Amino acid sequence: MQTCCLRRDFAERRLWRGRLPGERRGDGPRAARTHHVSFRWPVLRRPPGCAMTQDDRPRHISVLGREAVAFLAPRAGGVYVDATFGAGGYSRTILGAPGTRVIAIDRDRTAIAEGFDLVDRSDGRLTLVEDRFSNLAQVCADQGVPQVDGVVMDVGVSSMQLDRAERGFSFRNDGPLDMRMGQDGPSAADVVASASETDLANVIYIFGEERHSRAVARAIVKARGEAPITTTRALADIVSRVVRSKPGEIHPATRTFQALRIFVNEELDELQTALTASERVLKPGGRLVVVSFHSLEDRIVKNFIGARSKSGGGSRHLPVAAQAAPSFMSLTKRPVVADEAEIAANPRARSAKLRAAERTDAPAHAEDAAFGWPILANVMRGGRS
Ligand SMILES: C[S@@+](CC[C@H](N)C(=O)[O-])C[C@H]1O[C@@H](n2cnc3c(N)ncnc32)[C@H](O)[C@@H]1O
Repeated sequence: MQTCCLRRDFAERRLWRGRLPGERRGDGPRAARTHHVSFRWPVLRRPPGCAMTQDDRPRHISVLGREAVAFLAPRAGGVYVDATFGAGGYSRTILGAPGTRVIAIDRDRTAIAEGFDLVDRSDGRLTLVEDRFSNLAQVCADQGVPQVDGVVMDVGVSSMQLDRAERGFSFRNDGPLDMRMGQDGPSAADVVASASETDLANVIYIFGEERHSRAVARAIVKARGEAPITTTRALADIVSRVVRSKPGEIHPATRTFQALRIFVNEELDELQTALTASERVLKPGGRLVVVSFHSLEDRIVKNFIGARSKSGGGSRHLPVAAQAAPSFMSLTKRPVVADEAEIAANPRARSAKLRAAERTDAPAHAEDAAFGWPILANVMRGGRS
């Protein structure tokens, strides 16, 4: 299948429903859960003769890796899902426990290709799958293991993605305005070129928590009327003209770039769907461990574990007898954070928060209602204002 067909397939068949900020219930498309009809690549095997070299390009340093795997508590014979393979730091630690098997997922083809060496050295205990982690239940079923002993997610971007200019995530290194972790869907340049001013402002406000979102959106719409915005430097310059920062503060484009990255990769939808998928695939006693890097993600994880750990977490409108029994037991009353030594060695660890929970033997709860954030497919369908 060719990439262009996959893109079209993705655009036409991924149906997202939900309210936009400011819309009242019933105003927008029918509020419902997200439906994933995503494409799937086969499990990748290294092509014969393809030597992976350890080059000197940036590599990712795992954050809270020791703590995450300690919460996972891997045991011989156990099967674990590393839903965010990245540079393989978590997978490597899990495989360090004798007799474990790891199914590792990443939507980034480069991360998967760079993991082939580890597969070779894993004695058949590591399987790499290029996919979105929202599909983790299907990935496990495809591997013949519908139930697993643990799921770990270290969400967000890797240093390889952030620091390689050609991936288009960074305003520090000029590159194409791409920001896609995977190969599918619209790029940041596509969003900037075709989203309406209102949608751009909503995206930048909600996912970037940028106070000047309206001014940034206005500046983008004005600039794109003069010339297409296709590079990270061009976008950073446009934002810097309307958002000022004092010396010592973050770069003025930081929040806008974060917002576009989260939106383009549908990061919050992915996380929410993956949490409910984990609830379905974990065995009783199996562990869920999530490391997140900003408040929006941490709130989703905290609310999910909180709701699933409470008796009657199903719905307050149901009679007590019909309310769902807790499907998880929280293992972290407060989030675990990196210690000073880790932060000194890896400043990226500063914002990391780890939460963990253990699956009970209660059935999985009903799916959560849709959230109110902007939905990529809707915005791309909406066209320019
Ligand atoms: C922070 S890195 C993980 C680093 C890893 N724990 C390590 O120690 O090397 C996050 C990785 O998750 C991947 N990722 C993010 N969102 C994803 C999603 N929805 N589905 C699959 N992979 C995703 C990214 O491509 C990236 O490689």
